[in-house]
Amino acid sequence: MFDQRLYPSQKYHSASRNSSGFMHALNEHLIHYRDDIVQLKDKVTFTFKGPTVPLPRPALPNVSLEHVLENRRSQRDFVHNPMTLKNLATLLHYSAGYKHTEAKRKYVPSSGGMNSVEVFAFVLSSEEIPLGVYHYSSFNHELEEINLGDYREWLKTHVFFQQEFSQASVVIVLTSMIGKLTKKYLMRSYRLGLIDVGHVSQNIYLACAALDLKVCASAGFIDHEVDEALKIDGDENASFLTIMVN
Ligand SMILES: Cc1cc2nc3c(=O)[nH]c(=O)nc-3n(C[C@H](O)[C@H](O)[C@H](O)COP(=O)(O)O)c2cc1C
Repeated sequence: MFDQRLYPSQKYHSASRNSSGFMHALNEHLIHYRDDIVQLKDKVTFTFKGPTVPLPRPALPNVSLEHVLENRRSQRDFVHNPMTLKNLATLLHYSAGYKHTEAKRKYVPSSGGMNSVEVFAFVLSSEEIPLGVYHYSSFNHELEEINLGDYREWLKTHVFFQQEFSQASVVIVLTSMIGKLTKKYLMRSYRLGLIDVGHVSQNIYLACAALDLKVCASAGFIDHEVDEALKIDGDENASFLTIMVN
């Protein structure tokens, strides 16, 4: 029985523990080999139909991994620094894109190779990209337009606890395809969704360090506002993390 004093997060953690009893419950594990589950791995499960913005080839400067790791930090003192198409393409490619050198493999690991993370971007300041909200199609390496417009005031008054975040050039949103993960991982899926998002976030941090861009992650946002703007349902696919880039 659950202890009523526990938060739902603690109850979930407890309920989603693997136990040694599962070692003998092979039926639960056999789901991993079912055709429909195996096919989920390489399936593009999320896309928007509409106008697209093609992205240029990514270009990372020739800096060492040591330099990148040493320079990774969160910054919040944003200045006027319009996002270039090249930098956005580079950030998205190395965090959520497919490798050039290997088919069907990304730069980030993901639970069961299911690529549960989808990436969206509010472009708030750019001379090359129309301001608005987009979904990143990792398969086609292009931005899929969801809606055009200036989202800064809305972010400041309706979305963020920290108002300085609306001064970013781009707000990236990482969402998790919880519905897809749940088909395979059942109770354990929410844990895996969070971990997958963390991997993508770290690559964004590292790419920003290489490109000399300011970056700060935040989980402090109003979920339903962001989900609505992204036109996702918040159940099958839900916003997990915002990442400001400047
Ligand atoms: C999941 C996550 C959520 C975060 N949320 C916020 C936030 O809401 N506001 C903020 O200012 N920083 C936020 N941060 C940034 C952390 O405060 C920052 O990573 C931490 O202080 C360590 O500093 P560093 O990243 O410069 O090493 C978040 C970081 C992560 C990974």
